[in-house]
Amino acid sequence: MIKVTIDNIEIEVEPGTTILNAARRIGGKVVPPTMCYYSKLKGSGGKCRTCLVRVAKGSAADPRPMPKLVASCSTMAMDGMVVENQTSPEVLEARKGVVEFLLTNHPLDCPVCDQAGECDLQDLSYAHGDGETRYEEERRTHSLTDLGPYITLNKNRCILCYRCVYVADQITDGRSQGVLFRGDHSEISTYIEKAIDNDFSGNVIDVCPVGALTDRTARFKSRVWFTKPYDAHRDCPTCSGKVVVWAKGDEILRVTGRKDEFGEVEEFICNTCRFEKKQVSDWVLEGPRHISRKSVISLNHYENIDKLKETTKED
Ligand code: SF4
Ligand code: SF4
Ligand code: FES
Repeated sequence: MIKVTIDNIEIEVEPGTTILNAARRIGGKVVPPTMCYYSKLKGSGGKCRTCLVRVAKGSAADPRPMPKLVASCSTMAMDGMVVENQTSPEVLEARKGVVEFLLTNHPLDCPVCDQAGECDLQDLSYAHGDGETRYEEERRTHSLTDLGPYITLNKNRCILCYRCVYVADQITDGRSQGVLFRGDHSEISTYIEKAIDNDFSGNVIDVCPVGALTDRTARFKSRVWFTKPYDAHRDCPTCSGKVVVWAKGDEILRVTGRKDEFGEVEEFICNTCRFEKKQVSDWVLEGPRHISRKSVISLNHYENIDKLKETTKED
């Protein structure tokens, strides 16, 4: 085991652990925000720079500080390393710059965006961004693309984190999309349409940190904070069948994978569970889903699922 200190807290981790994952072992505010890294997707990370940290001491063997801030999701922890995240004004200032950069071409869509209330970019901007924008130029715009009957792609909101590309590459049968062009012309290719035939393609919606990929079957039906999430499961031949159903009254508006404390899906679910099982009678309800992170959804406290369960019995 090796010892690493992050924001003055020491922890022992396996050699080969990244700084980010060491911080996740500590938890709380020590954990840098992430917009592109996804522990379940191989090769993810290193794209967005929101997880930047300062390495004040490289290791016990070489105590020199690293000359630049480093991406914690792709930098390995070393024995004796000292890392600063929240405790470094330089990191906080740089993160502000990253937020500004991510928002450069981002539309002011929150009032009409289905992701609002559970959007990582909203949370990031609130925690690390400035209240005002310096950007007055015209924003780059693309038109909406419907990726088959279930998914809508809004490239204007895409932050090019590549997570959906890794899902298509690693979770579905074959990769058929990617990022086209370079620099500020980069865009997610609509060739992604090829991936919609696959049983697991709907997972691109769950991994997308913003509202670029949204569920057409739930689009504009309700703000997320008016819906109540419940853990539910069914006997599914394709996936684990363990999901979260988002209900309004006794109607299920949408079905998603279950996310952990870092906002990552615990188990990827199939398209049948996600898009085609919208009846309460399709599911065995387990109980309210606790949304642990600070979110408007968490403000909508409730613990009573009797009404929804009664509907199941009636059916
Ligand atoms: S993706 Fe997030 S930040 Fe962007 S418009 Fe939607 S809710 Fe707002
Ligand atoms: S569409 Fe979403 S998941 Fe795909 S690259 Fe853009 S932001 Fe990332
Ligand atoms: S999360 Fe590390 S660079 Fe994006």
